[in-house]
Amino acid sequence: MKTPQSKAKSIDPKVKPLNPAAVRSITLPTGRKMPVAAYGTFHSDWAQALMKDATVEAIRLGWRHIDTARAYENEAEIGQAFRDAIKAGLIRSTDDLFITGKLWNGHMSPKDVAPALESTLRDLGLNQIDLYLNHWPWPNVHTPGCAGDHRNPDAVPYIHERFMETWGELVKLKKAGKIVHLGTSNHTAATMKLLLRDVSKDERPVANQMELHPLFQQTDLRSEFEKEGIACMGYMAVGSPKRPARDTFKEHRSDLEDPVIQSIASDLNITPGQVGLAWAVQRMNHSGGFVAMTTRSSRMRENLIPATTDLLSPGHMLRITGDGTPEHPGIDANNRLIWGQVFLWPEADGDWRILWDDSQVFETSANYARFKKAFTAYDKVKRETTVPLPAKPVEHH
Ligand SMILES: NC(=O)c1ccc[n+]([C@@H]2O[C@H](COP(=O)([O-])OP(=O)(O)OC[C@H]3O[C@@H](n4cnc5c(N)ncnc54)[C@H](OP(=O)(O)O)[C@@H]3O)[C@@H](O)[C@H]2O)c1
Repeated sequence: MKTPQSKAKSIDPKVKPLNPAAVRSITLPTGRKMPVAAYGTFHSDWAQALMKDATVEAIRLGWRHIDTARAYENEAEIGQAFRDAIKAGLIRSTDDLFITGKLWNGHMSPKDVAPALESTLRDLGLNQIDLYLNHWPWPNVHTPGCAGDHRNPDAVPYIHERFMETWGELVKLKKAGKIVHLGTSNHTAATMKLLLRDVSKDERPVANQMELHPLFQQTDLRSEFEKEGIACMGYMAVGSPKRPARDTFKEHRSDLEDPVIQSIASDLNITPGQVGLAWAVQRMNHSGGFVAMTTRSSRMRENLIPATTDLLSPGHMLRITGDGTPEHPGIDANNRLIWGQVFLWPEADGDWRILWDDSQVFETSANYARFKKAFTAYDKVKRETTVPLPAKPVEHH
């Protein structure tokens, strides 16, 4: 926990604001503009006490898109930040902001969806939310701040029939005017295809929030979503250098320390963080954006600049993205930081890749029940007939 002294140090009233009108936006199907730079309010388990004042400061410095979630357990503090910002004359009302919220996995049961949104609206002090995302495709929960080896025996894979019940509730809330736009987060290729197959035009997600940074570009998935008119908002856009321990592994590489990122930063006299954020805004013809968090005034300004102007030339973009030729390999390293291993279900048999590779996606509960029965029988025979392996430390792929 930071001391009040260090909290004061990170907020610096001398840092000059940027003009919010200079921040680029994406026009959504309703005509409403979504700023491409979203200020993230997840505290990574260390910055919770700083998030209210940091959010007010982000608004002072020109951020108008604020990314929130029930799971961050700070909606009341962020709502207070909005009221403080209004009181300080930084904004006239929350109508000056574009606010994203997220339905937590534990509230995906149809009866829980409307009450969850009501709590979010109440705590944030809103009548309606600009963009409401389904946080993860699965209804699986973990205890807040849990270790990476936490497993919930009741966890299940994606079951489309059940997901559509949740989505149906979200559509009702959109029709009731409580949600302006619907979106997804962490959707995969197969789960998105099923969703788009079964919704009408005004029930479609307008955005998918997903992990994206120069060392984890998800190019194919992004292209598929963007072809469908779904804006890809990249989280962990500077590589989440202070992420929770459960998402930190020795194999991970640092975007900020990548030699290509550092060389572009030094060519342009900008910071490595700005290179990653500029890539986020400029990729795919400016069709997406980023969510980034910082507790420091100086970085709030620094991180917003790439959303106001193109910092990277096409040549710089090519060095990061590559074009599939040996001359221009790009720097994508498939360096996934968030695996979501705490959401693994028993039939994934400990294989983290199954969370993302669509090999266990089910249309109906009946299909999943058949699969589960067969798996349970197989697993029983496996345990009865094979020599048990020695206990291994937690692994990831
Ligand atoms: N949809 C989802 O499932 C999901 C998952 C993860 C995150 N998110 C959203 O995305 C947001 C961002 O994720 P994140 O916070 O993990 O990752 P991030 O924005 O990549 O990293 C934030 C951390 O990096 C430091 N930082 C920020 N800008 C920097 C720069 N220019 N140079 C060097 N360091 C910099 C900050 O430290 P200081 O405070 O010291 O500056 C902060 O601790 C979250 O707050 C949340 O809103 C969504």
